[in-house]
Amino acid sequence: MKVAVVGKGGSGKTTTSAVVARTLARHGLSVVALDCDSNPNLGISLGVGDEQTERLVAMREALDEGGEEHAPGWDQLLSRFGSDAPDGVRLAVVSRIENPEPG
Ligand SMILES: Nc1ncnc2c1ncn2[C@@H]1O[C@H](COP(=O)(O)OP(=O)(O)OP(=O)(O)O)[C@@H](O)[C@H]1O
Ligand SMILES: [Mg+2]
Repeated sequence: MKVAVVGKGGSGKTTTSAVVARTLARHGLSVVALDCDSNPNLGISLGVGDEQTERLVAMREALDEGGEEHAPGWDQLLSRFGSDAPDGVRLAVVSRIENPEPG
């Protein structure tokens, strides 16, 4: 299942995303949360803390600036550029996914 949360500025996208992600994880689902926002602060709402959130944002900036090589697949994307969040959610801050594999 893939869930995308979109909406107007300040309408509650980040808060809703974090609550849905953690609730699904608490019910036993394996949850990956991808923050594609231009102002990415899902880490704060998920509860990974300021430091981890800033680390993930800095990694996306390094990717966008060409200072870091893009991961060749989703599993490496999550292991290299992800962070563990409460309730077992895995969080990554991404800009775009090139050549997405099925699933
Ligand atoms: N269901 C809700 N009831 C009341 N307040 C809420 C609710 N959801 C979010 N908020 C509050 O509304 C504000 C905006 O929420 P949030 O940051 O999640 O929105 P956003 O759509 O992600 O904003 P942005 O467009 O800036 O990324 C926050 O102060 C948040 O605490
Ligand atoms: Mg937001």
